[in-house]
Amino acid sequence: MTSSANDYSGRYRESLALLGRAESAVPSQAQTFSKSWTQFPRGASPVFAERADGGFVWDADGHRYIDWPMALGPLLLGHNYPAVNDAVAAQLSNGAAFSLPTVAELVLAERLIDWFPYAERARFGKNGSDATSGAVRAARAVTGRDRILCCGYHGWQDWFIGTTTRGAGVPAAVSALTTPFPYNNIAALTELLETHSGAVAAIIMEPMGIVPPAPGYLEAVRDLATRHGAVLIFDECWTGFRIDLKGAFGKFGVAPDLACFGKALGNGVPISVILGRADVMDVFDEVFFSFTFGGDMLGIAAADAVLDVLEREPVLAHVDEIGSALMDGFRDLVEAHGLAENIGLSGYPGRHVMEFAGDGQDGLLLKSVLQQEGLARGVLAAGWHAPSYAHTHDDVKKTLDAYDAALGVIGDGIARNDLPQRLMGETVQAVFRKP
Ligand SMILES: Cc1ncc(COP(=O)(O)O)c(C=O)c1O
Repeated sequence: MTSSANDYSGRYRESLALLGRAESAVPSQAQTFSKSWTQFPRGASPVFAERADGGFVWDADGHRYIDWPMALGPLLLGHNYPAVNDAVAAQLSNGAAFSLPTVAELVLAERLIDWFPYAERARFGKNGSDATSGAVRAARAVTGRDRILCCGYHGWQDWFIGTTTRGAGVPAAVSALTTPFPYNNIAALTELLETHSGAVAAIIMEPMGIVPPAPGYLEAVRDLATRHGAVLIFDECWTGFRIDLKGAFGKFGVAPDLACFGKALGNGVPISVILGRADVMDVFDEVFFSFTFGGDMLGIAAADAVLDVLEREPVLAHVDEIGSALMDGFRDLVEAHGLAENIGLSGYPGRHVMEFAGDGQDGLLLKSVLQQEGLARGVLAAGWHAPSYAHTHDDVKKTLDAYDAALGVIGDGIARNDLPQRLMGETVQAVFRKP
């Protein structure tokens, strides 16, 4: 019988003690849902991280893990990247925040306008949600229309999250103005635009989520948006710098009216940006998109340093190589363990996601056991990977060795019909529940 890596008693003692404390101090015990204990098998996983370097993270009990979520994607260069750290430290000693606009924010805006051929203006935010929500407001203002059609995940603000199963607290009247549409289905989008003819302010979408666009799909979306007078917004918070240095435009050759970038732009230092055509962006003269830390200098300095690195180092080639090795190796292991009907993998080297068969609980149980066994062997993942410039082939090998053992536990648990008993913690929760 393939056994678990250990019995877990005591392995996560400090994390679990901190979790107990957090129950009295922090609602949901985390600041970000996807980092919380709900996404890791509670009792058989770390809950709190303490430090990170390169492609590694250390938990509160002192265990080191190969870090695959990389803080939900921003760490494209890896944790603690020297050129970014140096730029941030240098800026810190020259002032972190000012009472006037800064030269550096202007220079970064100009640099991004040069970087993306369709961009004529730039406005900065701190989170991806700032950028997507600002872009949506601009689209509403410039078109005088209210309805938003969306595809993908776009952040925590009312206009989007109200369409999901995590929309508590969002007025129904707000949620009713946003309609999700399925990816790669031009007929569905066409129908929605006809149903809401003359009322759609914006089509906002992740130009590629996990699966690539079908041939001609993005071009057809572009054409529909133009014909219906809707602003086309590409949400590139994930794709930005991971599919191509020029994002979806570079990869697929389709230009949006507005684009939103976040995550990797600052390599972990918060900064996001809305880029786009002048005739739409200039509505920000009137539209209120303004906050104390808009243009804060640490994010600006980090982003400028990130762009320098992306220009001079083979970041994407490396991420593609590491990611491809991880994807190929994982698929081979799943096949070798006879689990191809239970576990799949989709996506691209820079971001790929496992699929666990079985409705609801069964799929989540598979995911939880895989996480538990990976964690016990030094691999932090939540069913997906976001490789970085810091990850190495050795990390891939160690990760695949850990998954080999983990899949052995799963295969054995399925064969003996006792998979639930293999899980030493709680089953993880779905980020968005089934409605
Ligand atoms: C595609 C996409 N858009 C927007 C956001 C929101 O970004 P943030 O969480 O930084 O507000 C995210 C966050 O995961 C995202 O993946």
